[in-house]
Amino acid sequence: MAATTMDQLVSLCKRRGFIFQSADIYGGLQGVYDYGPLGVELKNNLKAAWWRAMVYERDDVEGLDASILTHQKVLHYSGHEDTFTDPLQDCKKCKNRFRADHIKDGKCPNCGSTDLTEPRMFNLMFKTAIGPVEDSGNFAYLRPETAQAIFTQFKNVVDSTSRKAPFGIAQIGKSFRNEITPRNFIFRVREFEQMELEFFVKPGTDMEWLETWKENRLKWWEEQGLDLSKMHILTVPKEDLAHYSKATYDLEYQFPHGLEELEGIADRQDFDLGNHTRYQDELALSAKVNKNSDSSAKLALFDDTDKKWYVPFVVEPSAGVDRGVLAVLTEAYTEETLPSGETRTVLKLKKHLAPVKVAIIPLKRNNPDIMKLAHEIKANLLKTGIGRVMLEDSGNIGKAYRRHDEIGTPLCVTVDFESIEKSPTSVTIRNRDTMAQERINVSDLPAYLKDFFLK
Ligand code: GLY
Repeated sequence: MAATTMDQLVSLCKRRGFIFQSADIYGGLQGVYDYGPLGVELKNNLKAAWWRAMVYERDDVEGLDASILTHQKVLHYSGHEDTFTDPLQDCKKCKNRFRADHIKDGKCPNCGSTDLTEPRMFNLMFKTAIGPVEDSGNFAYLRPETAQAIFTQFKNVVDSTSRKAPFGIAQIGKSFRNEITPRNFIFRVREFEQMELEFFVKPGTDMEWLETWKENRLKWWEEQGLDLSKMHILTVPKEDLAHYSKATYDLEYQFPHGLEELEGIADRQDFDLGNHTRYQDELALSAKVNKNSDSSAKLALFDDTDKKWYVPFVVEPSAGVDRGVLAVLTEAYTEETLPSGETRTVLKLKKHLAPVKVAIIPLKRNNPDIMKLAHEIKANLLKTGIGRVMLEDSGNIGKAYRRHDEIGTPLCVTVDFESIEKSPTSVTIRNRDTMAQERINVSDLPAYLKDFFLK
């Protein structure tokens, strides 16, 4: 089968209501996207799968949902104010601006001119004024990563949960980066969502944990439907490491635009907790508070064996939600030629990710008995907890099947004349992937669907 193209995905996403350009009616806000009726379901399902694997299925991880607005000092001590920058060059001829590493052979990628400015550093963080008076000291940043609040809330989480290493804090949420050239649909955007785990370990065990998390995360992506033969593990070269990282693996996926990072797994050692602790120390010094070596280690854990405080190291699997959505859509998008010669577009999403689990399709929408039964079945199936069950009353069964194939609905339940005329009451179930249909008694439906979706 031919590889999925970005055009196919962008078109499907708009046509069926997965993803829209932000402020479309005003010409669009560049690098910002909105998730539509099906996109929000798919995204929520991916996030729920991550939360389940990272928090519910483990006994060593707690959750957090911290604020987006971030104190300037947090991002000063984290190193982002000084180092979270990209070098930029302007083309003096066409006035476009590019990241220096996107300029090949000294030529403007837009017009080919070689009349370019020298590279200048550009900070990627968004700032916003706090309160009614806008002055230089009165601002906060929109967080560039969710990780920092995990570090700054470390002590509160440890004090309230009595956790000992190894343990982690997981968070899903929005982050913002003023990307110079957002591109490739939802791959490189200015507002995006991250799923990040900061896993705190004893110094010296960090490299082992880095390997463990790499394997763990690859397995998880495979469970989301990604073909591991389209994934590549990049050991990030020393010169390309982020300012906080000692070692990083990038899990790369073959997106329609090329092989690029889907998730990074970094060994941040004690870079962040250490830096935030140093700030606490400076505060203590400037207040002339008498410190002893124990109490100065604010963001630390107590080692019961050595009877000493220590700053744990951290291993961080950090995945992009939007990149995850793009990857599962890329993998699931399929065009099949039917024996009739027709082309069928089908989104072969894993069932737990499908935006709609079951579509109930009444054969005739103007038949009150069929409609009544369809509504009853829907209400009953909702109680099973399988997820979104949709009553599809477009009135054209062929169109309904095509639409549900295209949006990845694993099962369609059709209520027909036999359903209301014969006893026991039965319906047909059509499978998205095989297109096979079978007849089943309505009383057996909840158990059938629970078995299909929840096992
Ligand atoms: N927390 C790692 C990143 O945002 O890239």
